[in-house]
Amino acid sequence: MNGQDGERGLLSGSTIMITGASSGIGAAAARLFAAEGASVVLMARRENRLRALAQEITAAGGRAHAAPGDVTDVDDVARVVKETVDVFGSINGAFNNAGWATAGTPLHQTDDAVFTQAIDVNLRGVWNCLKAQIAAMLDSGSGGSIVNTASIAGVLATGATAPYIAAKHAVIGLTKAAADEYGQQGIRVNALVVGSTRTELIEGVLEAAPELEDAFTNRSLQKRMAHPDEVAQAAAWLCSDRASFVTGAAMPVDGGWTAA
Ligand SMILES: NC(=O)c1ccc[n+]([C@@H]2O[C@H](COP(=O)([O-])OP(=O)(O)OC[C@H]3O[C@@H](n4cnc5c(N)ncnc54)[C@H](OP(=O)(O)O)[C@@H]3O)[C@@H](O)[C@H]2O)c1
Repeated sequence: MNGQDGERGLLSGSTIMITGASSGIGAAAARLFAAEGASVVLMARRENRLRALAQEITAAGGRAHAAPGDVTDVDDVARVVKETVDVFGSINGAFNNAGWATAGTPLHQTDDAVFTQAIDVNLRGVWNCLKAQIAAMLDSGSGGSIVNTASIAGVLATGATAPYIAAKHAVIGLTKAAADEYGQQGIRVNALVVGSTRTELIEGVLEAAPELEDAFTNRSLQKRMAHPDEVAQAAAWLCSDRASFVTGAAMPVDGGWTAA
């Protein structure tokens, strides 16, 4: 990437907050959005990773700011949204992508702590982000575009653990509610129905349960996992003005998993 490409890019001139930016889909999005001209603010808990990624993007001619924090903590999220506006002057976009999953156990044997963490990270995290980001976008008066990472587990019982399935279904519900409430104020809100993607999250699940490898690809029409960049490409388009009439959508990026 170089600065000139960024000036002409899909996201040129926008400032986008990305959660879960320390690895996987979020890190791929940080690199792609910056290459497409966005100023990116990177949020996750692993500070060293965020700082290294921000440096990498800056060295390549992009604009990035590391803002470590926990999406389950309302104060952390509010601070990162404020930092975004302080550092880059505005917030026009957000990719609320932080998530957590674990290998599935039958519902009646699933620890309550798994329920709490799945709901807190995947659902409350998106809730915290939406509240702070929408408030800042309303303040600016110039609207914005928000993309929330759901999952094929947000539309189907995929075999993932029940609390994760419940949380991702709820992310799609929140997405539709927010799109409905702010559609006339220029704020678009969409969700990605992400299929199996080769990231640390999946590697972690496969380490605990190697027998699941086949289960991660067999229902996709393409019979493979996505590369994180393929998911980031869809998020970039939804964040951009080219998706100007798309809101309240749950867009599959799943190799056809939910089509057949
Ligand atoms: N990979 C797949 O097959 C797949 C399929 C469907 C949906 N998804 C969804 O895609 C999203 C990204 O996951 P991934 O596959 O890229 O996995 P990943 O590499 O494990 O990334 C998860 C990200 O979330 C961050 N995170 C977790 N808890 C957090 C918290 N409390 N506060 C802030 N950040 C937190 C992690 O960073 P820190 O640990 O540094 O905080 C990390 O950056 C998730 O929402 C996931 O549910 C993934």
